[in-house]
Amino acid sequence: MATSRRDRADSYTKRAHKEGYPARSVYKLEEIQQNFNLVKPGDVVLDVGAAPGSWTLYTHKELLKGRGRIVAVDLNPLNLDPVPPTVTSFVGDAFSKEIRSLLVDNGPYDAIISDVAPMTMGNRAVDTTRSEYLAEQVVFLAKEHLREHGNLVVKIFQGGGQVEIIKEMRTFFAKVKPFKPKACRDDSFEIYLVGLDKKNV
Ligand SMILES: C[S@@+](CC[C@H](N)C(=O)[O-])C[C@H]1O[C@@H](n2cnc3c(N)ncnc32)[C@H](O)[C@@H]1O
Repeated sequence: MATSRRDRADSYTKRAHKEGYPARSVYKLEEIQQNFNLVKPGDVVLDVGAAPGSWTLYTHKELLKGRGRIVAVDLNPLNLDPVPPTVTSFVGDAFSKEIRSLLVDNGPYDAIISDVAPMTMGNRAVDTTRSEYLAEQVVFLAKEHLREHGNLVVKIFQGGGQVEIIKEMRTFFAKVKPFKPKACRDDSFEIYLVGLDKKNV
């Protein structure tokens, strides 16, 4: 019998608990990394929308292998105990003047990874508009604070705005690809936009 995305999502939840990750979203990053090789040991990585911390922990353990630095930012604190030694974390709105300047001071970055998402209201138009705003802000950060040849992944809820964001990404990445990991639920309308090899613009 074929397994649905929801069955797979549930098995991802169990696996995440077993492997010590606070959220099953870790397997989305695993798949993205397997396909696009975004992060390598020694990199300086910015994780936007990092809580509870699965992507941050996975990046520390499996991608940086303890070498490099991660700057993690979220409205909520990370739920990691202990917080890995490569991680500096900030709590607050990543796009506020104060937090943004801390992110800039800690850069530039070799990779920006962002699973950022708004608190959903159940109204697709509102949720999509908020997600587009967040994705756009992450893309602006990448344009200014990602190093040449750097990589980006950012989540967006599918809707009209992603076309414009992809267009913008194409102005400063050699390659741009939308990607939907298998670990996403069937009924989820999220996708990830991947930008590879930032150009010297
Ligand atoms: C799906 S969760 C991220 C899960 C995370 N990647 C993990 O693996 O644990 C999305 C996160 O985006 C955060 N977020 C939403 N708006 C934000 C903002 N303006 N600044 C920082 N974080 C934000 C939320 O607080 C939430 O924790």
